[in-house]
Amino acid sequence: MSESHSKKRTIVTSALPYANGPIHIGHLAGAYLPADIYVRYMRSTGKDVAFICGSDEHGAAITLRAKKENKEPKDIVDTYHELNKKAFEDFGISFDYFHRTSSELHHKTAQEFFLDLYEKGVFEEKESEQFYDEEYGQFLADRYVQGTCPKCGHDAAYGDQCEKCGSSLSPTDLINPVSTLSGKEPRLKKTKHWYLPMQKEEGWLREWLVNGKLNGKFHHDPAAWRKPVIGQCKSWIDGGLQSRAMTRDLDWGVKVPLESAEGKVLYVWLDAPIGYISATKEWAANNGKNWEDYWKSDESRLIHFIGKDNIVFHCIIFPILLKNQGEYILPENVPANEFLNLEGKKISTSRNWAVWLHEYMEDLRELKNKEDVFRYVLTSIAPETKDSEFTWGDFQTRNNSELVAIYGNFVNRILVLTQKYYDGILPEKADLGEYSDILASLKDHASNCDKNLNSFKFRDALQDAMSIARLGNKFLADSEPWKLIKTEPEKVKTIIHLGLQIAANCAIAFKPFLPDSSTQLASYLGINGDDWLSLGSSEILKAGDTIAKGELLFAKVEDELIQKQIDRLKGNTEGNNTNSTKKELKMKDLIEFEDFLKLDLRLATVVKAEKVEKSNKLLRIRIDLGAEERTVLSGIAKQ
Ligand code: 2FM
Ligand code: ZN
Repeated sequence: MSESHSKKRTIVTSALPYANGPIHIGHLAGAYLPADIYVRYMRSTGKDVAFICGSDEHGAAITLRAKKENKEPKDIVDTYHELNKKAFEDFGISFDYFHRTSSELHHKTAQEFFLDLYEKGVFEEKESEQFYDEEYGQFLADRYVQGTCPKCGHDAAYGDQCEKCGSSLSPTDLINPVSTLSGKEPRLKKTKHWYLPMQKEEGWLREWLVNGKLNGKFHHDPAAWRKPVIGQCKSWIDGGLQSRAMTRDLDWGVKVPLESAEGKVLYVWLDAPIGYISATKEWAANNGKNWEDYWKSDESRLIHFIGKDNIVFHCIIFPILLKNQGEYILPENVPANEFLNLEGKKISTSRNWAVWLHEYMEDLRELKNKEDVFRYVLTSIAPETKDSEFTWGDFQTRNNSELVAIYGNFVNRILVLTQKYYDGILPEKADLGEYSDILASLKDHASNCDKNLNSFKFRDALQDAMSIARLGNKFLADSEPWKLIKTEPEKVKTIIHLGLQIAANCAIAFKPFLPDSSTQLASYLGINGDDWLSLGSSEILKAGDTIAKGELLFAKVEDELIQKQIDRLKGNTEGNNTNSTKKELKMKDLIEFEDFLKLDLRLATVVKAEKVEKSNKLLRIRIDLGAEERTVLSGIAKQ
């Protein structure tokens, strides 16, 4: 098996998840599973690869969650860092290092990075008017403001981004802005910040993204990037790049390392991607490596795996920072995924419409190789170029009709026949004769699988691996060794020999996707399954090798289990709203029932409503109470 790129080292990153909540299937399918498959594949080709991730522990995502739960931000990040680290381990996401941005090393690295750019004159220092919540005495950065998206009209867009259309926003872009602290309309107040003048970068950015050239030289093949990724970047650049503040008025985060910046921290989207660098430093120090070989050498490649909501940060803002620093490499590819929907609806943390990894582990604990089943299903439906959908019905079908009926069935049959006819000793093969075209198909599937993995087409690559299992299944069904064993025993030896070689190919081809079940199969065959370069060969095993009896790799999922999951999901949204982020608006204390009785509530008909001159907010309203009419003023004109 060959693979295309020739550089010595690869650094693969997965988006640092906010440590403000658990991980769900959308996250796993978006930025972690494909990265893990790629890294496992790279490792099995013998490449030097560092797989880096960690918790993103700063920014409003964290402080708002802490506030909602009446906790300190540190308590929140400590809890979710551990929970998410474990969830990733459970699902076999094989990070070389899972760091955290609250670590001292990260703070130091981010401050040095900022200072370096500051000294190079990259930032502009500017005073501007920003939203301020009088009641809380706080500036309202990013998610502290919500309002209507000016681009798509979504009415719950955040001050930094609209999660519906993916647009990157500034708080003052929002229509009808509201503070998420007090629920009130914020006022504007002057404050000083350090800005990245991105408009200066348009020329080289376009050349780099569209033509794959940097400083006039080949950098990467733009055709290898996913179209929606390039499309989003182009439309961002076409819309006009603007200065963006790289600091915030907050007290949770990496302190701005300047004397004149008291009470300010680095913008979380400056600090978080530097988390990839600090994590690499930590990993390198622990493993006798030099982190700069990975980040500052032309012999190294950088690949970012992310979800589509992170595209601009990884394809525009972070590259601008890296390029301005001058010594760092830029990403060779950013294989961003689109979104995964769930049972016909968008995954929503606030409505608890999600499958959470820790809940899957618990609810499906009885299912054989449950982590691999999940990895299989999520890769089969990966939203690589458009949004896709997970349903429990599809989960059941893919497990029962593909993993059990094709792959598991083939492996089980070949292992049982080897025991039955040859006491578990791999027989010699004779001339292949009529079976030689099987080898040609095997080679084709193997080579396609390799090509697709190299091009980040994980869905297709998984189908190629499944085609090898399908080939084996069909080969046994067509050659019917159980009918020939009495009459043509020499031929059966060849069939079983070949069948076992196909099984060995399955163990290797599936290993990046399904590490547990592949290791299990490899151990039955007496190999480790890590030698990707032998994929496609019919000489992986040798006559005389001992083959174990083995156990089934997968088991059927019954209807009852699926129904339980669907019921749980529906139950989640009906009451158990544990992950709601919409409870952030401040509520007054509950009053006693006696106090409630003191209220005099009346229903009235609005007879007339007219604007009050010189006021944007007031309406003069004539109401009919039945016994009398009154005129009242109400501040609802904007609504
Ligand atoms: O969207 C998110 O979940 C962010 N925490 C991703 C950060 S990626 C990187 F830049 F660190
Ligand atoms: Zn929008």
